[in-house]
Amino acid sequence: MAEPGPILELENVTKRYDAPAGGGDVPPVLAGISLTLRAGESLAIVGPSGSGKSTLLNIMGTLDRPTSGRVLLDGQDLAALGDEALAAIRNRRIGFVFQLHHLLPQCTALENVLVPTLAGAATAPAGEMQDRAQQLLERVGLGERLAYRPGQLSGGERQRVAVARALINRPALLLADEPTGSLDRAASEHLASLLAELNREQGVTLVVVTHSTALAAKMARGLELRDGSLRPHEEQPA
Ligand SMILES: Nc1ncnc2c1ncn2[C@@H]1O[C@H](COP(=O)(O)OP(=O)(O)OP(=O)(O)O)[C@@H](O)[C@H]1O
Ligand SMILES: [Mg+2]
Repeated sequence: MAEPGPILELENVTKRYDAPAGGGDVPPVLAGISLTLRAGESLAIVGPSGSGKSTLLNIMGTLDRPTSGRVLLDGQDLAALGDEALAAIRNRRIGFVFQLHHLLPQCTALENVLVPTLAGAATAPAGEMQDRAQQLLERVGLGERLAYRPGQLSGGERQRVAVARALINRPALLLADEPTGSLDRAASEHLASLLAELNREQGVTLVVVTHSTALAAKMARGLELRDGSLRPHEEQPA
């Protein structure tokens, strides 16, 4: 069988922010990043605080545009698209999990998972989406918590709701920025295993930004961002 094609390609991507008023010249955060992600791959990105990991993830997720260079999703150059077209593609193809889960406090776990289905064109009837949301919550171990609100869930449980929500529209690409950042060790390991399993089971391409070596080790590939460039991440001896 042929190798799966690239889902995401970055070609010589740079990102430069202007210094706040009065600041001097700042070096670019991303100084020419090239990267190819194949469908079904899993990738960990590590690097010191402030090295540009979130900036890079936001560019991968079409939430931000590079200063120069090209980003291709499914072979399509994103620079050619306006904000509305970009938002439609993002909603259909990409799921996000953030460090702080951003769940709606007044909604139940089930309603939170369904939020991304409310924007844009529905891909399936509401009843089907409801069933899928329930199945996803069961898959992340929260089948008994469908009617709980975020305030009634633990940190790890909330983060698992966020994972289910990110998967509701069957994204091809799942981007997670420090998904275990606010969790204790046991909850982190549980979430890390879950993400790795979902990558294998659902064939979703996974990019995880993390400080956790345990989470990074569960991804097939590891890269380190430093001084604006990506290099292979050498595993730390345990
Ligand atoms: N809107 C902005 N304007 C100016 N500078 C910015 C802006 N956003 C980010 N930066 C700068 O870009 C650099 C990289 O930020 P980024 O959030 O990508 O780092 P990070 O690697 O995700 O760090 P952390 O591990 O702490 O989350 C930082 O030095 C930050 O000050
Ligand atoms: Mg960050």
